[in-house]
Amino acid sequence: MTLKKNILALRQKKAIVEKGGGDKAIEKQVAMGKMTARDRILALLDVDSFHEYDLFVEHEERNFGMASKELAGDGVITGTGTINGAPICIYAQDFTVMGGSLGLKHARKITKIMDHALRMKVPCIGINDSGGARIQEGISALAGYGEIFYRNTMSSGVIPQISVILGPCAGGAVYSPALTDFVFVVENISKMFITGPNVIETVLGEKISQEDLGGARVHAEITGNAHFYALSEMECFDQIKELISLIPHSNQQKAVSVEPKEPKSLKNIENIIPADPKQPYDVREVIHALTDDSKFLEIHELWAANIVIGFGRLNGETIGFVANQPMYLAGVLDCDASDKAARFILYCDAFNIPIVTLEDMPGYLPGVDQEHAGVIRHGAKMLYAYSEATVPKITVILRKAYGGGYIAMNSRHLGADFMFAWPGAEIAVMGPEGAANIIFRKEIMEAEDEDAMRQQKVQEYIEKFANPFVAASKGYIDAVIEPSETRELLLHALEVSKNKDDHRPAKKHGIPPF
Ligand code: HXC
Repeated sequence: MTLKKNILALRQKKAIVEKGGGDKAIEKQVAMGKMTARDRILALLDVDSFHEYDLFVEHEERNFGMASKELAGDGVITGTGTINGAPICIYAQDFTVMGGSLGLKHARKITKIMDHALRMKVPCIGINDSGGARIQEGISALAGYGEIFYRNTMSSGVIPQISVILGPCAGGAVYSPALTDFVFVVENISKMFITGPNVIETVLGEKISQEDLGGARVHAEITGNAHFYALSEMECFDQIKELISLIPHSNQQKAVSVEPKEPKSLKNIENIIPADPKQPYDVREVIHALTDDSKFLEIHELWAANIVIGFGRLNGETIGFVANQPMYLAGVLDCDASDKAARFILYCDAFNIPIVTLEDMPGYLPGVDQEHAGVIRHGAKMLYAYSEATVPKITVILRKAYGGGYIAMNSRHLGADFMFAWPGAEIAVMGPEGAANIIFRKEIMEAEDEDAMRQQKVQEYIEKFANPFVAASKGYIDAVIEPSETRELLLHALEVSKNKDDHRPAKKHGIPPF
């Protein structure tokens, strides 16, 4: 009888805390088009799989009128559950409880579940909806954030860390996501900034909306802070589920392999690249022509579109694809493209995911803007990442491979395991026009018909150098292949690379050009 009474009391107590900030605050949350923290977790995880911990944790702040404030769960829900059957750890900040602001106990709930994820070697997902450090708690809140950042760093490269931004996230609430592997945003709902508009107005006297300061599109398109962009919370959760199904759940595991499927017959791979080498095309069509079931999960789709990165499967196994995108800026490498690709390459390497590189680009983007933005430092990240990676690395040169870009896009010289080139590949120090203008300048200037001479010299250059056979004659390319052979050769190369064993000199860690 007593036990029954106690169970009833427990249920009542739970029901109160599970209400978060109460009906009014929930109404406000819903009116903003947002789900509650609890509903988000339930929508993302497998049905009935969520188990919550630390529901009854309470804050201990006594200043600024906090002594009398009861904060349900201290503004964050933490627990474990499954996604497509795979175990994960999760936390979701509850904006209805003091704006999801982070006090010390709130932080300790998060660090506890992060420690759990690291020990159990399962992905950790954080749903962020928070005004940042709880101002009333001062240094204790900052300490809490520091402890989270430390754990983000310790978990980096060991377990996947996923951040979902589902509200106005300020201060520490965006720095933790910045340390994680994948950041998801939703149109109209996600906002990320270091300093909120209220504070900006007070300090700088400038009025700016949350959206303009750091809305979903700003981060998906301009800053690159967000890897995935969705139009609704449910679409965002579907994206997370797809990602989880593709990646290994720790650096000691492989991604779950699935039944291999042939690509769906979309466009014939031979017809994707236009006959005119100056014409653009969508490199994603090549990826779709190669991957199982023609499926490809693109990452950073809206940012630095001149390079395409993402996951697809070959023979049922997850592969990381890095491909220049001729449709955008002719597929050049620039600061953002280099950052985007380099980080992805390191991710694949950390989690044992082989990398397939598809190359078609005229080199690094020249000009004052890029030079002053640090293209030397950013571009070097690509060289570093490919050289550092020990997973199987395969390159297919589809068309242009010029200059530093040729080296940077996983060349033999940076340790590519297999180098293939299509017969129309142009591998040289620079494009034929630029090259002819420099090395035949005298002949062109002295010719009666400068244009005719230029054309003749360009043609000479193309025949001599802008083809795959010079590189093949030196063994820098392993095989010049027909486009229709590409998938089969990739499958074979990956099969052969299964037991690849490659080591780097013993060191604490390298120093990448951040
Ligand atoms: C305490 C906070 C809070 C905070 C919001 N609230 N942020 N309480 N500490 N950091 C409270 C509000 O007082 C309010 O309480 C409730 O949460 C909802 O907030 P609103 O302002 O009504 O909501 P909204 O208009 O949607 O604006 C959300 C917001 C804004 C953009 C996040 O609240 C804001 O600008 N907050 C400050 C953001 C910021 O600059 N944080 C940086 C902290 S420094 P009531 O009771 O009225 O409902 C930091 C350092 C980390 O994080 C260091 C990392 C390196």
